[in-house]
Amino acid sequence: MKKSFLLILMLTISILAEEYTANKVCKACHPLIYKEFVSSMHFKSTIFRDKIHGKIFSIHPLSKKERYQCAKCHTPTDNDLLKKLKSSQKAMPKSDDKGQLEAISCAYCHRIKDIKEHAKMNQNIINDKKRYFYANDKDIEGVKEYRIKKGVFVSTSGSPYHTIDTTNELFKNGKVCLGCHSHKRNQKDFLICKTQFEDNTKENCITCHMPKVAGSFVNHIDTKTHRYHGFSGVYNTPEFLSKYIELSIENNKFLTIKIKNRAPHDIFLHPMRVAVLKVTITNKGKKIAEFEKRFLKIFGKNGKKVPLWEATEILKDTMLKANESKNVTFKYIPKEKDVIKAEFGYYPLNPVLAKKLDLEEFSDFKILRTVIF
Ligand code: HEC
Ligand code: HEC
Ligand code: HEC
Ligand code: HEC
Ligand code: HEC
Repeated sequence: MKKSFLLILMLTISILAEEYTANKVCKACHPLIYKEFVSSMHFKSTIFRDKIHGKIFSIHPLSKKERYQCAKCHTPTDNDLLKKLKSSQKAMPKSDDKGQLEAISCAYCHRIKDIKEHAKMNQNIINDKKRYFYANDKDIEGVKEYRIKKGVFVSTSGSPYHTIDTTNELFKNGKVCLGCHSHKRNQKDFLICKTQFEDNTKENCITCHMPKVAGSFVNHIDTKTHRYHGFSGVYNTPEFLSKYIELSIENNKFLTIKIKNRAPHDIFLHPMRVAVLKVTITNKGKKIAEFEKRFLKIFGKNGKKVPLWEATEILKDTMLKANESKNVTFKYIPKEKDVIKAEFGYYPLNPVLAKKLDLEEFSDFKILRTVIF
């Protein structure tokens, strides 16, 4: 009697615990999107797949305490671990746990119903229905015809597998990203990350980072395009974003390059990155001068550089701000027939830090935009 009661109780608990449909299930009908997704940092966000994240966690004070609090954003589908975090037990990621393997999964993202704003960091509110997904389908060609043919209402879905709710504004204005990307304060209550948000109908997190690319979004309907699920950024397909950085030459005695950041947030966002403007001048095929200007953000405490988790002040911040135009002047007077090549790019990991952390493979310079004047 007691035993069966316990069994029922345990069953109820396991049903109540949030569960997410596996990415592989979606793959069967959305193969292109799945393929892009596994190339994204959302799939590689765990300490096992992202070497930098793994390294930083290993030297973070929470690592000693065996409390992987990064899970809230880096592995939000790992419910076992999140439950342990709530109960102040030891909570460390295991490489073969389902939640770790799923990372920031398809179903997790598509079930974000709302975002709760908090001072320290925001929180995603997940709906409690396993096969109920949000999307914004206003602009997918062919879907309405397909649904009419199937005899289903446009506001629900023609999917044989799940319900689609197209009334969630977060999937139109990009706020769906803000549960994890908005901001983060460290233990000292100091703001260490922030992504500015602009309510803009033309360009938002989704339109810039998930541009429409060729190929159908689902096997059942032959649409020309779908929203890119590789989430362009520093690592994956930065070339999709290069058009949002403009370089021009200013009319000035000394060589002056103007950089315009068309993104509504700082470039770059993560404090480990260094942005660089490199200028090479050639004349009659001969290189005659070379210049470089770096942009970065340094955190500290009592005037000294410290890791992010100890920071209480910003020592230096030359990053390009949201929508900012910046003129960079070099001590060089342009001459006739000079060919001036300007390259705007970045080190994903600050070379100084990379050396210290033994992660030098991430300190190669990457070019985002090149213009020749
Ligand atoms: C509030 C959500 C949130 C939490 C909690 C969080 N992160 Fe992150 N983390 C992010 C986001 C979003 C990015 C991507 C930002 C970017 O690329 O600018 C990121 C990126 C990173 C990166 C850069 C990875 C790379 O490959 O360049 C590191 C390192 C990192 N996080 C470490 C941690 C560690 C360690 C913890 C836990 C102690 C943690 N994060 C907790 C949201 C979070
Ligand atoms: C980080 C959050 C996130 C993840 C992870 C994610 N999606 Fe999406 N997905 C979105 C957003 C945002 C949109 C764009 C708004 C829209 O069209 O609904 C979208 C659009 C879609 C669409 C509509 C296609 C289109 O062209 O508009 C489908 C289908 C889809 N996702 C399926 C998936 C599948 C399958 C996976 C996993 C392989 C996945 N999503 C992972 C956020 C996500
Ligand atoms: C058995 C096939 C099947 C499976 C499995 C499946 N889907 Fe779909 N999905 C469809 C079809 C068909 C549509 C388009 C029908 C429609 O929108 O009326 C669709 C549409 C979508 C859309 C919205 C596109 C729009 O119309 O706005 C999203 C988002 C989505 N699926 C996410 C997922 C996720 C996430 C998974 C895995 C958890 C998944 N799907 C698994 C068949 C499937
Ligand atoms: C559940 C939390 C979560 C949500 C929701 C989320 N992200 Fe992320 N995102 C992350 C984390 C964590 C990382 C960093 C992973 C890493 O580097 O280890 C990241 C990384 C990224 C990157 C950097 C990729 C690169 O190659 O450098 C981009 C761009 C991005 N996210 C865009 C988005 C957009 C757009 C949305 C909304 C449609 C979104 N994210 C929703 C957690 C999230
Ligand atoms: C007008 C286009 C545009 C919009 C809107 C936009 N971004 Fe970006 N984003 C960029 C560009 C350009 C970069 C820098 C190029 C790169 O990372 O390859 C970038 C970089 C990023 C990165 C990587 C930065 C780093 O340091 O690792 C993340 C994460 C990101 N954006 C998230 C977001 C989120 C979340 C939103 C919505 C709140 C958003 N972006 C809105 C254009 C945009």
